[in-house]
Amino acid sequence: MDKDIKQQIIELKQEKEAIILGHYYQIPEIQDISDFVGDSLNLAQKAMETNKKIILFCGVHFMGETAKILNPDKKVLIPDMNAGCSLADSCKYDEFKKFKSLYPDHIVISYINCSAEIKTLSDIICTSGNALQIVNSLPKDQKIIFAPDKNLGGYINRMTGRNMVLYNGSCEVHELLTAEYTLKMKKQHPDAVLIAHPECNDAISSIADYVGSTQGMIKYVKESNNKKFLVATETGILHKLKSDNPDKEFIIVTNDDSCACNDCRHMKLNTMEKVLNSLKNEEYEIKLDNETILSAKKPIEKMMEISKKLGIIK
Ligand code: 13P
Ligand code: SF4
Repeated sequence: MDKDIKQQIIELKQEKEAIILGHYYQIPEIQDISDFVGDSLNLAQKAMETNKKIILFCGVHFMGETAKILNPDKKVLIPDMNAGCSLADSCKYDEFKKFKSLYPDHIVISYINCSAEIKTLSDIICTSGNALQIVNSLPKDQKIIFAPDKNLGGYINRMTGRNMVLYNGSCEVHELLTAEYTLKMKKQHPDAVLIAHPECNDAISSIADYVGSTQGMIKYVKESNNKKFLVATETGILHKLKSDNPDKEFIIVTNDDSCACNDCRHMKLNTMEKVLNSLKNEEYEIKLDNETILSAKKPIEKMMEISKKLGIIK
């Protein structure tokens, strides 16, 4: 049955001239049928470069929106309209507009995990793959609001010595992890290297051996001589880590003895059946009005421009 679905997806993809973009937090089967798997930065770049008619984005809603903003003339689909993001949802337009008005001399840097509406209120978008470098590239006295992730913002403040104003948003998956339990796991596995996503709280980031985006973690592990890793992020990343490094051991960092995994309930809404349905019926389509697209595109283009200048992307 699974093989059948896989074959149908492959055939439909060709027939409809579609590209499937998949995030590292998707289930292994979806990562395997994706034309490209990456972190938010790589995926945004791929979405910008594709000449396919349809982009099927296997990730969450804000990722589909980003692809649509970059490709207003293409059909952008996501397998399940309910695949949202707690971080993006923690930052609502009216509330953020009010927050922004309290700091009229600040520019706004927003993490890509936000809605298209929040992007329209932003000056520069960043991802976990370029946030630190983007902030570092700005003049030291530049006043900055960083939204919506207080953890990524706090990590950047610590690393750069800046004092960015942080919006109080967070990811429900990473937010559950605690430094106390992570330290306990470190003690249980003294030979393991701790790698963490910057959406974890700063107490975890500060005890990690490496902090970076999903792509960053994957690269770090591949280049490391160590054989054992404690992984503080969403479980989906294990698929790529294990397939790249069959000789290495990975232990997902959890928040108590009974919790077996850190699945993002939004990312995991996508299934192979839904991917097939998406291609078959060309649903569920991301729709945005032209005004939103035009104004949300500017801070994304700014991010791409700075990332190219800094050599983060080609
Ligand atoms: P990256 O893959 O860009 O590190 O982002 C992680 C994430 O939370 C996506 O929702
Ligand atoms: Fe959002 Fe967190 Fe899920 Fe990523 S892992 S989609 S940030 S809720």
